[in-house]
Formats: sequence, structure tokens, C-alpha cells
Amino acid sequence: MRTIKLGTSSLEVPVVAVGCMRINSLDKAGAEKFVRTAIEEGANFFDHADIYGGGECEEIFADAVGMNDDIREKMILQSKCGIRKGMFDFSKEHILDSVDGILKRLRTDYLDVLLLHRPDTLVEPEEVAEAFSILEESGKVRHFGVSNQNPMQIQLLQKYVKQPIVANQLQLSITNANMISQGFNVNMENESAINRDGSVLDFCRLNDITIQPWSPFQYGFFEGVFLDNDKFPELNERINEVAAAYGASNTTIAIAWLLRHPANMQPVTGTMNINRLRDCIRASEVRLTREEWYSIYRAAGNILP
Ligand SMILES: NC(=O)c1ccc[n+]([C@@H]2O[C@H](COP(=O)([O-])OP(=O)(O)OC[C@H]3O[C@@H](n4cnc5c(N)ncnc54)[C@H](OP(=O)(O)O)[C@@H]3O)[C@@H](O)[C@H]2O)c1
Repeated sequence: MRTIKLGTSSLEVPVVAVGCMRINSLDKAGAEKFVRTAIEEGANFFDHADIYGGGECEEIFADAVGMNDDIREKMILQSKCGIRKGMFDFSKEHILDSVDGILKRLRTDYLDVLLLHRPDTLVEPEEVAEAFSILEESGKVRHFGVSNQNPMQIQLLQKYVKQPIVANQLQLSITNANMISQGFNVNMENESAINRDGSVLDFCRLNDITIQPWSPFQYGFFEGVFLDNDKFPELNERINEVAAAYGASNTTIAIAWLLRHPANMQPVTGTMNINRLRDCIRASEVRLTREEWYSIYRAAGNILP
């Protein structure tokens, strides 16, 4: 699979990341087959979070690969912390405790990447800086990033944290494309002009922070998959036409649409179906034309001024 550098780091990562939030929907044999096949196919970047399945997803994953030093070196592991029941918590104590829990469940000594999951307004960035330095010096975490953060939040963190923020994981799909459409509708009176994220797309590009689009197939907030969905007839018709032109599936085209953006994004897929994952991987070889990209954007109901 095609690779990119994660943020300003030298870490080379596949352009499609495998999200593990839904791995607890598989039985043991299914999880083992899924993860091993993903690695064989070059999809060796796995995204976790301490809260997925209440910690169960990380354990299932470690069991599925039969985690040991040998297999560990064949993969890149990312996890997230900072969400607790009823609150967000970026305190030093919580970050350090969470990472210990993550490492224990994943049965590894280190994470390649740690992300702070959702912004905590009570964050004291000096504490985050201390936690990150302890984690880096102890070798427990190699690279650091955030998720669902706007530019000012990242700048505030980066004022104190000495490690570069290499990734920002954000909700983005063809049907959830406000971060793109606001850039087309600057200063207009329409809904799309509303800047909901402080121009995070441009900020990440300016600062070489890799955007990791999460839920690349969902519309709304986990409301369902837009592909083959009667709610999106025009979009599906257009995606299917483009898919036919490439001899590819609609799944491939939905990921290719994200990858065509020059921001060099790394979509995080959630499928637990190995054939669908193969279709996602295939997107790394498909480069949509400008006309195809724009027509899919518009067919989803996104507007151009
Ligand atoms: N940072 C955050 O706040 C945040 C939030 C949510 C998720 N995430 C990360 O993002 C990852 C992806 O999230 P997600 O699972 O919601 O993403 P998704 O890839 O948009 O959705 C995957 C789900 O859609 C189903 N699906 C049905 N038809 C599909 C098709 N044609 N193509 C692809 N999938 C299809 C999959 O079922 P099958 O398994 O049957 O294919 C699976 O249940 C998570 O695993 C997690 O790592 C991060």
C-alpha cells in the first residue's frame, strides 16, 4: 500500500489505517483472521482507544495476533486516551495511567502514536507536557497527536508540549464534509459557510499535521453507511458510475475521494470485513480526476457557491 510520513515525523505509515473500535463484533477466530490478513495486505497501522469496548477491543486485538516481540515489529500501533465516563480528562495522572492500561491490554512495551481523544476544557497544557515527556523518555510512546481538536486548541497545547503534534483525527466523509465545504463558501450567507472547526483543514496542512478522517463511510454521528443507502440516491449513482469506470467497488471510490485531497490524509476505516478492507486498500492505487472528485462532492448535496 502507498505510504506517507505521519506529520513532521519520520514514521512511514500506510495511507489507510485500520480502526479497531468494532473488533469486539468478531469472534476469536474471526478477529485473528481479520488482523493477520490486514497485516499481510500491508494494512499494518491499527487505531485503538482505551474506551473501545471498555478496553476489550485492545485485549481482543492482542489475543488475535498472539502478541509477541516479533509480530509487534510488523505493525504500527496507535491508541487514544482522555475520555472518561461523563468527562474528558487530560490530567497528567490520567494520561499516564491510561497509557499503562493501554500497554498492558495490547501486551506491548510501547505505542507508536498516542492521541488525546477529545478536547478537555479543563486541560492544563503544562501537565500534558509533563506527561508526554515522561512517556517519551520512558520509551512508552514514540509520537503524539490529538483528535477532534481545532487549531487554537492545538496551538495552546503546542505552546507547552515539546513533541510535535503529528496527527489530528477528525470526523470526515463525503457526507460529513463541512471542513471542506466551508473553504468553498467563505463569507457567504449559506449554511456551508459556517466555520465549525476554525479552519482545521488549512491549519493542519500549514503545520504538516496528518488528518486522519474517522468514520469515512458514515453519515451523521454513526447513523449508518451512505453507500447503497436509499437516502443518498444521487450520490450512490455518481459513485457507482465512477466505480464502474475504474472497475472498482463503491467502497474503494469513497476512500479514493478522501485520498485525492492534497492534504495527504490517512483515513481510519472501521470495517471488520476483510474483503471490504481490501477494497479500502485498493483506493491507495486510484487517483480520481478533478471532475470525478467534484461531481461526487456535489452529488452528496454539498454546495459550491
Ligand atoms: N477519534 C474519534 O473520535 C473516533 C470516533 C469514531 C471512530 N474512530 C475511529 O475510526 C474508525 C472507523 O470508524 P467507523 O467504524 O465508524 O467507520 P466506518 O468505516 O465509516 O464504518 C464502518 C462500519 O460500516 C459498515 N459498513 C457497511 N457497509 C460498508 C461499506 N460498503 N464499506 C465500509 N463499511 C461498511 C462496516 O460493517 P462491516 O464490518 O460489516 O464491513 C462497519 O460496521 C474506528 O474503528 C475508530 O478507530 C475515531
